[in-house]
Parts: sequence; structure tokens; C-alpha cells
Amino acid sequence: SFTNPTEEGNNSLIVVSNRLPFVLKRGSNGVLQRSHSAGGLVTAVAPVVTKCNGKWIGWPGLFDLGGHEKVPEASDDDKSPTAGLKSNQVIPVNIPENDFEEFYNGFCNGTLWPLFHSFSCKITYDRNSWQTYQKVNDYFAEKTVEALRYQQEVILVDEEIPIVWIHDYQLLLCPARIRELAEDEGLSCKLGFFLHIPFPSYDMLNTLEGSEEILYGMLACDVIGFHIDLYSQNFLESCLRKLGCRVDFDNKTVEIGSRVVRVRTLPIGIPFDKFEECAKNAPKVNGQKDEKDTKLIISVDRVDYTKGLVQKVRAIEKLLEKHRHEYAGKLTFLQIGVPSRTNIKEYQSLHNELSREIGRVNGKFSTADWYPIQFMYKGLPQDELAAYYRDSDVALVTPLVDGMNLVAKEFVACQINNSGALVLSYFAGAAESMKEALMVNPYEVNLLADSLHKALQMSSSECQLRMEKLRARERKFDVHYWMSSFLEEMRFVESIEKPKLPT
Ligand code: G6P
Repeated sequence: SFTNPTEEGNNSLIVVSNRLPFVLKRGSNGVLQRSHSAGGLVTAVAPVVTKCNGKWIGWPGLFDLGGHEKVPEASDDDKSPTAGLKSNQVIPVNIPENDFEEFYNGFCNGTLWPLFHSFSCKITYDRNSWQTYQKVNDYFAEKTVEALRYQQEVILVDEEIPIVWIHDYQLLLCPARIRELAEDEGLSCKLGFFLHIPFPSYDMLNTLEGSEEILYGMLACDVIGFHIDLYSQNFLESCLRKLGCRVDFDNKTVEIGSRVVRVRTLPIGIPFDKFEECAKNAPKVNGQKDEKDTKLIISVDRVDYTKGLVQKVRAIEKLLEKHRHEYAGKLTFLQIGVPSRTNIKEYQSLHNELSREIGRVNGKFSTADWYPIQFMYKGLPQDELAAYYRDSDVALVTPLVDGMNLVAKEFVACQINNSGALVLSYFAGAAESMKEALMVNPYEVNLLADSLHKALQMSSSECQLRMEKLRARERKFDVHYWMSSFLEEMRFVESIEKPKLPT
């Protein structure tokens, strides 16, 4: 059984992520408000931070936050997982607008995002944005050390050493900087990192000028987590080949100076119960499943070139070409496309291309009262999304590459009647475990169309058999399990500095 070290009250947890667990918005009266997003990470981790009186450090989502302006307390009707977080537990990192452009649109999403997803043709290499990335990582580290300084005052016994848990590719240099500053000041902490996207091969990483610094940045941690073994192995391989570290591939450890860093494969899950609950309670959408003859295929993605959006539209075209009489007038493909990183050119041109392709395919097959593809360019609230997942016959989850992909998991959590089928890309991290899905290569549009046909024709008994197994696994290995596993790994770590006991 898994227990959280933090829940036992032994350690306090400081989470560091690019975004805070909620966005701050300024109302027309100038008053700040918390605006919620419903990610799985926040659902699992925020209540633990609340409970252990920890802190969450991140970018608040606006530029005009005054130096001494406080994050507001939660409102009385706030029912979100962050409602328990007090104002002083949420530490905003102010990033000046100019820095943000080079940090977020530049190095994070113009360089690291394509590079870590091995999209070599989309990578921009730019020295200025690398320097800004270093600078912004410093901002985060300084805020973290401020929080540690405060925690130090309340540390009484050895077990209470704070755990600092840093997240994702925006903050790869942050651990080294925190370690350096903490060591200078004699502050105790244990450092953990989780990467939510793929870790690339050595060859790919090596194209980056700052790759050595990035590896050292991460190796300042005691535990580094990845979704699947491939990413863990890629990281270990890079430490060996790029830095010449002593690496144990079987035990997944890297020696650096006198320290041993543990690399762990810990696939993230979703808040399964929450999605299931939503699916049980949400009203029907469009009455799709009531009409026996109609079929609904659903996809939900950020509009991102890693997601294979255009290939999916072409697969629908192929499906209709091959089986026009069977599906014309009866099939809807609903693509929910969440706007993302819209100031970056690559994302703008993808959105244009996608809209064009959807228009072309709809024009080709539409009749007076039917067209095959619906495109919603927006995010949906969780209960509405759950209803769509529940009432769809097929989920088409076919990224060209994806660290994990939580949509596949959310879909199965919402299939409370075990009646739908999941078509899943080999190249999503989720494919490592979700073996009962229909697996496809998303680049092979013809085969994608065939898989869709197979999924649409699957007998209800086969759907049920597959879905029951998929659901049981995701129920067990949910996001709470993932978090507990990570914190359990952190428990055995020696801290940077032994705390000074009060005399
Ligand atoms: C991916 C990344 C996250 C990121 C999210 C949304 O899932 O792993 O770190 O927050 O995309 O992207 P955004 O750029 O809007 O934060």
C-alpha cells in the first residue's frame, strides 16, 4: 500500500512548475481573482501541498503583478482542488514580458518542445533565448530558496526536511541553481524532478549547444522521473556519452561527484474517480448514442503539431472514400482543438492548415443536412468533456509523438458502459501500458482509416472485454498512485544538508 510521506506530516512539499496551479486574472475593478484549470497534476498534488503546509511556486499568468501584491485567498464557493491553498502558500514568479517572450515562446516552445519530441525540422536555435531561459530558471530558483529559508525556520527534526519537486522542460536548469544556492546558505532539502514530455535520444539532444548544462541541471536532483523506460534509458545514455558519468543501466542510477542520482520510470495517471463521477452525472450530449445508426468519433488535443491533427482529418477522408455508403450521413468526427501557444508561428500555421483541410474534406462529402467533421476550437469544462467521452463510439488518440497522453486515459475513465473503442498511436507514452487499444501508426493514413473502420464495427462484447481491462488498470494506477510513488522514492533520499537542530 502507498502512503504519502507528506501526508504523514514528516516532510513539507514545495512544488515548482512553470504555471501556478491556477491562473491569476485581474477583474475590471483591478482586483485579482483565481481562475481554475482542471489538470490531473493539480488535482492530485494541490491537496497534498495544502495538507503539509507546503508551497507552490510558478508563473501566475499575468505581467502586471505588483511586487508586494498578494495572491488572493480562495473564494467561499471555490470547490476546486486548490481551494485549500492559502494565499501565503502560493508564490508567484514574476517574469518580465520581454523575458517571457524569449523564455516561453522562444527557448521552451521554439527549441526544447520540438527537440524533445524529435521534430528536428521545427527546432529554432537561438543564443539569446537560451540566455533568457537560464535567467528565468534563476528567477524560479531564487523564489524556491526564499521558500526554503522560511521552511528552515520551522524544521525541528531530521524527517521534516522539505521536498522540492520541480516539473517539466521549462525548468531543466532550476535544480542545479537551487542546489547551489541552498548549499551556500546551509539550507536542507531533497530535490526531485519529473519530466512530463519525452526525453530525446542522445543524437537529438547533442544538437543543442546547452545540452551539457541541461544534463547537469537535472542531475542536481536526487530523483528524476520519466513516463516510460525509453525516456529513462535515453537520459541515462546521454549522461554516459555526453558527460562521461558512471551509469548503471539496470538499477538506473548515475554517479555524479559523491552523489548517486536515481532515475525512475513512473508513468502518470489521471484522477480516474473524478472523471468517472463526471461521466455518471453529466447530461447527454446531442443524444448521439440514442440514434442507433449514427456514430461519433471524438478527438481532444491541444492544437499542436505533435498531435497528428492533419493526419486524422485525412484518415476520415480515406474512411469515407472506402466506405461511403456505410457512413455518409451517419458519421461525425468531433475534433475538440484547444488553442495553444498561439503567438508562435508554427502553431498559427498548423491552425490554418487544419482549418483548410477540415473545410476541404467537409466540402467533398457534405450533403444538405450533414457534414462529417465538426471542429471546436476551444477547451471545454470537465463535465461537458466527460459527457462527450462517454457518448462517443470511438476515441481517436493518434499523436505523432507524445510523452504520455492523458486523453486516452480520460476517455476510458468515462466509458462507464464499456461500450466504446480506443484507437491509439504506437508513439504515445500511453501505448506502453494500454495494450487493449487498437494500435496504429498515425503516419499511415490508410491504415488509420482501416483501424477506425474496425473500431466502428467492433462487436459490443469485444468492446466490453477490452474496455474493462483498460479501465481496471487506469483506476488502479491513477494520478494519486503516481504521486505517492514519486514521493515514496523521495523519502529515502539523503538531504543536501543536515538541519541545524535548535540548541
Ligand atoms: C504539456 C506540457 C506542460 C504544459 C502543457 C500546456 O502538457 O508538458 O508543461 O503546461 O503542455 O502547455 P502550455 O504551454 O500552455 O503550458
